[in-house]
Amino acid sequence: MADPGSPLLRIKALSKSFGTTQVLKDIDLEVPRGSVVALLGASGSGKTTLLQLIAGLQEPDEGTLLIDGRDMREVPAHARPVNMVFQSYALFPHLSVAGNIAYGLKARGTDRAERTRLVDWALELCRLEGLGGRRPEALSGGQRQRVALARCLVLKPAILLLDEPMAALDRSLRADVQRELLGIQRKLGATFILVTHDQDEAMALSDYLAVMDRGRIVQFGPPRHVYEYPANRFVATFLGTMNLFEGTGDTDGELVLKEGPRVRLEPKARLATGASGLVGVRPEKLIVSREPTGLDTEFEGLIEQLTYAGNFSQARIRVGDRRVLEATIVNREHGGAAALKIGERVHVGFAAEAAVVLPDG
Ligand SMILES: Nc1ncnc2c1ncn2[C@@H]1O[C@H](COP(=O)(O)OP(=O)(O)OP(=O)(O)O)[C@@H](O)[C@H]1O
Ligand SMILES: [Mg+2]
Repeated sequence: MADPGSPLLRIKALSKSFGTTQVLKDIDLEVPRGSVVALLGASGSGKTTLLQLIAGLQEPDEGTLLIDGRDMREVPAHARPVNMVFQSYALFPHLSVAGNIAYGLKARGTDRAERTRLVDWALELCRLEGLGGRRPEALSGGQRQRVALARCLVLKPAILLLDEPMAALDRSLRADVQRELLGIQRKLGATFILVTHDQDEAMALSDYLAVMDRGRIVQFGPPRHVYEYPANRFVATFLGTMNLFEGTGDTDGELVLKEGPRVRLEPKARLATGASGLVGVRPEKLIVSREPTGLDTEFEGLIEQLTYAGNFSQARIRVGDRRVLEATIVNREHGGAAALKIGERVHVGFAAEAAVVLPDG
């Protein structure tokens, strides 16, 4: 057993090609023990492939993969302390729920009494009590998802890999299943690596986000950090919405836009004078008001679009011939952004600290 403070999974310089296409490029990743890591990225960015390499279902071309300090190079899939819940749950249709859950234990040679004990434990953990005798076809989507989970958890893997575990569930079920999944993970102190397309889900579930772009991990960190301080333009716009400002650094190191106005930056975020720069501001950091906002950077504009979404309204505000800002307005007052109307002239401002310099500008 390695040092409990060391990462449970350590991946170094991992690469994988299928034919002439390189699908994973120089992946480095460290997953702390007991954490949930969400892999987020566009379709085809290599998320499933990375899980398959961790599970031993595919061989890397280069690089190393250590679990608990042990090199997995020669360790076949079935001998790795890893289990995978697949994109489609792939339950055995001819076996009962209990049979599905017991399957891996049987293959492992666990004796009958212990099997029964563990299956009962997993049924209870995943809130499937009373459903052990049913066939998968007689279950709801959420229940099937929990059977798939129970079938893996019963083997007590050190790392559980989940490939889009909520993909087959409708939206209303997802929040419940997410909460349950997280509850189970916390209860077991297990380590989960989860793939999802859904950024809200990734943020809600994970301790760390790994954002993938065309075979690379372009940023890794706590969701709050990745959202607030995206590493580049791709992450900034892939994760949520970002108002982007391009220009050059002035003599104070603040950003001068092509059309003239300045974007004020915090002292620690200054640009080199004359250097081109890219700055991002999230929509919820903008203040929209009929009166001047008095904030560090301010535009005047016209509300072009206003979408009411209950707790907030989403506004598109034209502040120049070529610039439209996206602003999220919290409907704090009863009656909400009903107060503002399409076609109205407004001031849009933000504080210097809300402006993030994006390095690859
Ligand atoms: N066995 C394979 N043979 C050839 N190409 C493959 C194979 N498996 C995956 N690929 C290719 O590798 C790339 C990454 O695939 P992968 O399944 O890892 O993407 P993903 O990020 O999981 O996408 P999605 O979100 O759609 O599930 C894709 O271009 C895919 O076509
Ligand atoms: Mg996939």
